Amino acid sequence: MPVRKIGVVGCGLMGSGIAQVCAQSSYPVVVSEINNELLQKGLNSISSRLSKDVEKGKLTQSDKDSILARLKGTTNTADFSDCDLVIESATENVEVKKKIFTGLDKVCPANTILATNTSGQSVIDYAVVTGRPDKVLGLHFFNPAPVMKLVEVIKTIATSDATVKTGLEFVASLGKTPAVVQDSPGFIVNRLLLPFLLDAVRMLESGKATKEDIDKTMRLGLNHPMGPLELADFIGLDTVYYILTAMHEELKDPLFAPPTILKKMVTAGHLGRKTGKGFYTYK
Ligand code: 3HC
Repeated sequence: MPVRKIGVVGCGLMGSGIAQVCAQSSYPVVVSEINNELLQKGLNSISSRLSKDVEKGKLTQSDKDSILARLKGTTNTADFSDCDLVIESATENVEVKKKIFTGLDKVCPANTILATNTSGQSVIDYAVVTGRPDKVLGLHFFNPAPVMKLVEVIKTIATSDATVKTGLEFVASLGKTPAVVQDSPGFIVNRLLLPFLLDAVRMLESGKATKEDIDKTMRLGLNHPMGPLELADFIGLDTVYYILTAMHEELKDPLFAPPTILKKMVTAGHLGRKTGKGFYTYK
């Protein structure tokens, strides 16, 4: 089915990036937040990223203006009523996401595809609160969404082949590369990434090496763009913690048990780059 108009629920780190990518790929986009302050913050972050691209000569001012003109911010779910695809990118809280899916199911036409950008939670949990489980899938983008090329396309046991096909075509239309994966905890990337990040945290906790040396070795020894602790700060320690908790609950594997230090940092509000403090301090 043709995808002409996109909705994005959530204009935070990931939602704003996804909305930007869609608008840059010529789609009209409606993006929502829970209040005007957060909405404005998200829209400003898109505008300032586009301004940097104009400064670098990657976009013209007129490109930037057209992209922004395609983006409509809202705090009202009813504004998704004419979207062909809505991508939920809210906080990693199952109950919050379920409410969003219930609300979208009420306002969107029967043929609208509903997607979640969850980092690894069970997608079927959201599909079953709608009257259209065959039209629900996961579209998992990576941070920073405007830069990262991969989108995981998550197929639940109820997702129809037609929905997966539309998802794949949509991802390709954004200039990104899809990977199809079954609805299993952490999908592909986070299933492999999180044990690595956790081992780095445990290594730091046990005093085997400094955070700087742990990160440096992975950057210089394996050519990773960021070391694991830098990456955890970049993703957001709350997000890392929520994904881990969900995966640990589902898999009961101690490999995914969140280390105490991580829980304490999240409790203290040391969430990484977004709060200026995590394993490192940021301006
Ligand atoms: N938004 C948009 N563009 C950004 C950006 C952002 N937040 N951050 C950097 N960029 C762009 C820059 O503008 C620059 O573009 P240019 O080449 O056209 O000038 C380009 O990315 C490179 O940026 P910099 O030169 O400033 O810095 P780096 O070379 O250090 O790259 C990085 C920054 C792309 C973030 C790189 O460090 C990187 O790839 N890090 C790893 C990111 C990663 O692994 N992401 C996945 C996290 S896991 C995840 O998201 C899953 C979730 O479920 C947890």
